[in-house]
Amino acid sequence: MAFDIDMIKEVYNQMAERVDAARDVVGKPLTLSEKILYNHLWDGKATKAFTRGKDYVNFAPDRIACQDATAQMALLQFMQAGKTQVAVPTTVHCDHLIQAKQGAEIDLKRANDVSSEVFDFLASVSNKYGIGFWKPGAGIIHQVVLENYAFPGGMMIGTDSHTVNAGGLGMVAIGVGGADAVDVMAGMAWELKFPKLIGVKLTGKLNGWTSSKDVILKVAGILTVKGGTGAIVEYFGEGANNLSCTGKGTICNMGAEIGATTSTFGYDDSMERYLRATDRSDIADEANKIREYLTGDAEVYANPEKHFDQVIEINLDTLRPHLNGPFTPDLATPVGELGPKAKENGWPLKVDWGLIGSCTNSSYEDLTRAASIAKQAVDKNIKAKSDFGINPGSEQIRFTAERDGILKVFEDLDATIFTNACGPCIGQWDRSDKKGDEKNTIVHSFNRNFSKRADGNPNTHAFVGSPEMVAAIAISGRLDFDPMNDTLINENGEEVKLDEPKGIELPPLGFDVIETGYVEPLKDGTGVNIVVSPTSERLQLLTPFEPIGTEIKGAKLLIKAFGKCTTDHISMAGPWLRYRGHLDNISNNCLIGAVNAFGKKTNFIKNQLTGEFGGVPDVAREYKAAGIKTLVVGDHNYGEGSSREHAAMEPRHLGVAAVIVKSFARIHETNLKKQGMLGLTFAIEADYDLILEDDTFNFLDLNEFAPDKTLTIELVHADGSKDTIKVNHTYNQAQIDWYKEGSALNLIKKQNVS
Ligand code: F3S
Repeated sequence: MAFDIDMIKEVYNQMAERVDAARDVVGKPLTLSEKILYNHLWDGKATKAFTRGKDYVNFAPDRIACQDATAQMALLQFMQAGKTQVAVPTTVHCDHLIQAKQGAEIDLKRANDVSSEVFDFLASVSNKYGIGFWKPGAGIIHQVVLENYAFPGGMMIGTDSHTVNAGGLGMVAIGVGGADAVDVMAGMAWELKFPKLIGVKLTGKLNGWTSSKDVILKVAGILTVKGGTGAIVEYFGEGANNLSCTGKGTICNMGAEIGATTSTFGYDDSMERYLRATDRSDIADEANKIREYLTGDAEVYANPEKHFDQVIEINLDTLRPHLNGPFTPDLATPVGELGPKAKENGWPLKVDWGLIGSCTNSSYEDLTRAASIAKQAVDKNIKAKSDFGINPGSEQIRFTAERDGILKVFEDLDATIFTNACGPCIGQWDRSDKKGDEKNTIVHSFNRNFSKRADGNPNTHAFVGSPEMVAAIAISGRLDFDPMNDTLINENGEEVKLDEPKGIELPPLGFDVIETGYVEPLKDGTGVNIVVSPTSERLQLLTPFEPIGTEIKGAKLLIKAFGKCTTDHISMAGPWLRYRGHLDNISNNCLIGAVNAFGKKTNFIKNQLTGEFGGVPDVAREYKAAGIKTLVVGDHNYGEGSSREHAAMEPRHLGVAAVIVKSFARIHETNLKKQGMLGLTFAIEADYDLILEDDTFNFLDLNEFAPDKTLTIELVHADGSKDTIKVNHTYNQAQIDWYKEGSALNLIKKQNVS
């Protein structure tokens, strides 16, 4: 059911020849990232050296993984492509649509009741098209992928931004929009701008309270949420070899939080140990045969400044544990320094919840390290001051942790063990102590902490830390607690100190599981009938988008977004996950989280036709009904965060023709292109300030839309005055063809027919 060793052997068999050829054409030693990229060129052996950050290159990924929230739209699109089977091994994982509330058993049953229509749809489409299906409760996509499918030197794409987690096992694994996945499922190449490369040299060894999570929390503090944009982050050095494989996974996982295309590590003993522990010794044996090809060339790591576009060095010996947040994962503060910072900023010091797990941090090592802290609370008679919630990453990890008494430790602290699913990490949390307008603080070992991310409440201040630090902070109930220096008073009134965490890298008795939750698809699924009710509120078959065309005149400003505008602001998760398979219904959340630059309110924009103010989706629908195209304007890193193409499809569905911003997050920019829209950037950033609330837009030279050609837009202001601005774009000819056809999918279909 799991990996395909023959496919992996094929990848390895061609690797030496292809990498050697690439080294010749590049004329330099190669990083690991380059070796993997050049080994996966769609056209075979490299014949030219690609320019990082510039050349668009076609790749042939080995695998695809989709989670339930994004798979719905991806598969609805794939169904339009006219194929009988997916061309590349693909899996679907049901993890996002399960709300955390009372605990795994009850929550899973409720999810199966509430979302059966969607799960049944995903199961039957998977069965029909040869896709492996992981049932609700089987686990979180990235943990399941790490345990079953990731392999050193491989390339995969996934319809989730944290697909990058598989870099922990030496892959180049990249989060994409569903439309990209559909291309590859349909047997086409996958296109990516050849990434820049950031090298992170790790020296020393983690010790005491510091964990792998702190490496990426530190890197996020250095690079910020957009510092990795367009780049692969490659970790190397003796410090890297000293990390566990799952610890590497955590670091790669949160590479999404710095906007990196992906992150990866060279194959080493920790990966070999993990492969053998997860019943994949045959992959380890194969990998050992080509070990030097599964890591960067020695010269690269000896002189990294010559081979990477940027180099960062971190000494693990002296790295301190961090807590990052609130509201952004790059606001890094060493533990122990949070007190004054919190007081200054009005962040509540009292911690209400400690949440451990998610795809980021639910390895055996993570759980044992956190449990070693939790156990001390029980043994030293300390009453935990915060509530605890645990969401294991997979049924395999849950089963093993239960067998080994790890979950019991948390249960002794009255922790709620949630389903093996995303739960509070994606707003799927019906929080028992609802906070309303009251500012409150939570700590978690997840990856993202945007406003409203965990519980939908803008007043919740979420801080990200390692599982063991989350455990310690939650036991103390205080954000400014420093377990390395501070003491706690136990129930006997005694002063006690928490000892350093102790973890076990891999289960001494091996991993175990009885019911994995995996469903193998039929060999021939042509007889499977897929039914989508026309009255369903959860699922809707897609209608192809009409081309927007090259005549955009008289377009109105829909919203000028102010400040951070992530995919959560554009297409919120939480309760809206319910409509991920129904484009018209989910479009009612379009941009409702974006702050309008005029008035600084969310979901409150002016309708230029009536002068009235209303919600973004309502006003957009009124423009659409009047046959008027609209524009969205945004700031830097617009669309950062998730890979969900809903953030592009919704505005497209509601009649937005173009999104003009200071800069884009990579996946979102591609998603806009795929859906046949214009994703443009201000040639002069300050022109953002020229856009006024009542503006009308005329595109002056869109009929000359061509690669590398700046476009010109006339702004007509309400008083009749005009400004002309230049906008840049990164469309290549193929992407311009998508635009002209109305979407990339329209083009695939056309090519299928012809
Ligand atoms: Fe799920 Fe959160 Fe990971 S939503 S896939 S647990 S980032």
